[in-house]
Amino acid sequence: PKIIVVNGPNLGRLGVREPEIYGSAPLEDLRDACTRWGEELGIEVDVRQSDDEAEVIRWMHQAVDEKTPIVLNPAAFTHYSYGLADAAAQVTDEHIPLIEVHISNPASREAFRKHSVISPIATATIAGMGFYGYKLALESIVHLLEK
Ligand code: DQA
Repeated sequence: PKIIVVNGPNLGRLGVREPEIYGSAPLEDLRDACTRWGEELGIEVDVRQSDDEAEVIRWMHQAVDEKTPIVLNPAAFTHYSYGLADAAAQVTDEHIPLIEVHISNPASREAFRKHSVISPIATATIAGMGFYGYKLALESIVHLLEK
């Protein structure tokens, strides 16, 4: 089995961008960690990042067509992208797991971060656990697939 880990805009800047919030480790470290966690779980993990809404939406369509579960950190798209929400809804409509992950806890930050257009359609949301949240999300998907 395969899982796609999709990271939205500005997450390519991990390590440099607000390290007091997102930590000092770069996206490469997240990629390595997810690959390792996948190996432990016996799944192939494909870690992607894009600043481009159209590309992230295309990845959702691909996941629907290929029936691939998704770990999604929608980053700022979380708060306003109905286009991404509609695309992500097609994934969960097909009963394919989609776990929303945030490195920080957006509920404890600025007002605009308190609302997620993705949460209502996500299978589950994990926030505030740093990179470890991605491990929890991968484990959650394996749990759901085994049920
Ligand atoms: C984020 C939280 C979002 O509010 C923000 O726009 C991000 C990252 C997180 O992982 O904590 O870019 O999704």
